[in-house]
Amino acid sequence: MRLSRRNIIEAMALTPLVGAVPACKKKNNGIVIGAYLSMTGGEAEFGISTRNGVQIAIDEINARGGLLGQQLRLVVEDDRGDSTEAASAVTRLIDREGASVIIGEVASSLSLSGGRVAQRRRVPMVSPSSTNEDVTRVGDYIFRVCFIDPFQGAVMARFAKELQVAGAPVQKVAIFRDEASAYSTGLARSFRETFTRLGGEIVDEQSYRKGDTHFSAQLSGMVAKAPHAMFVPGYYTEVALIAREARSAGFTGPMLGGDGWDAPALFRNDDDKLVGSYFSEGFAPDHPTTAVGQRFVAAYSQKYHSDANGLAALGYDAMVVSADAIRRANSKEGPAIRAALAATANVEGATGRISIDAERNAVKGAVILEVRENAFRFHRAIEAQ
Ligand code: PHE
Repeated sequence: MRLSRRNIIEAMALTPLVGAVPACKKKNNGIVIGAYLSMTGGEAEFGISTRNGVQIAIDEINARGGLLGQQLRLVVEDDRGDSTEAASAVTRLIDREGASVIIGEVASSLSLSGGRVAQRRRVPMVSPSSTNEDVTRVGDYIFRVCFIDPFQGAVMARFAKELQVAGAPVQKVAIFRDEASAYSTGLARSFRETFTRLGGEIVDEQSYRKGDTHFSAQLSGMVAKAPHAMFVPGYYTEVALIAREARSAGFTGPMLGGDGWDAPALFRNDDDKLVGSYFSEGFAPDHPTTAVGQRFVAAYSQKYHSDANGLAALGYDAMVVSADAIRRANSKEGPAIRAALAATANVEGATGRISIDAERNAVKGAVILEVRENAFRFHRAIEAQ
């Protein structure tokens, strides 16, 4: 088809709007909170728990009259755990839905991808739970309400060093990481640094990729090095399978991990092979330390008939911190909300009191959870550094 002037004008009319959102789009339809999350696929439990937590905060805020005299409206885009999808989800939330704030992602690799879009469009993004250090370095519009992996890895390395297995201290650890995940490789690095600095030895380090279902080749090599414990900084779907294969390969020691283990599917699918293993998180629903946390746990089980977890609590906190910033900014425009987010101090969330530092991170403590047959149990709390 030859493009006449008329064709070009028609084609332009059909082109979806890109770039900055015209001010008229943001009027009169409430304040749009855009969340991009994995609602389907191997990380679906991350998205569902987070969405539920965000929704509880929105319900509470709307019941009190909303913000700036308007109701909040949550729009969720499913990125299916894929980083290309994550970028288009953020594009849609901003360009089509007129989101004032973006909440997401959980997985750090996806926050790195979606964050670049939010940064370019000058719409602030608050990640509830992406812990990789680089996420907030994408730019000055990117914030988070969780701790970061240099802290989390050090917490687990110190915990490993203090563990006793059959009366003997843990001296040798093998690491099994997801090489395609920014979270997993970063957390492995920080664990290794602290564990070796404390005098421990990393006897082997192997890798897999998200979506793998067979791990025995790597695991048999690792078990042959006789580690006392294994550090597996991955997500629940693969970790449950890895645990089963590690036991088949003859590994009997504790397995250790990070917040990526925190989904009920972990204890549902591990065939009890992770009972007695430990991981770090930002919140223990059986040990909430604040009144807001206790109320959140009760509200969650009342609304969803299941237990809250760290993801849900951090989703709630991402929304509470965003709402506090919108209120102080007295605006639904990105630059004003960004400035208010950067000044966040002492906001009471479900996971504790949240202040945002100069790197746009929250300074938080950690908890260590123990895996039981049908639940995770609070084991110990570790203070922020
Ligand atoms: N911290 C993980 C990441 O950055 C995501 C995660 C957080 C997963 C909390 C489960 C629970 O990729």
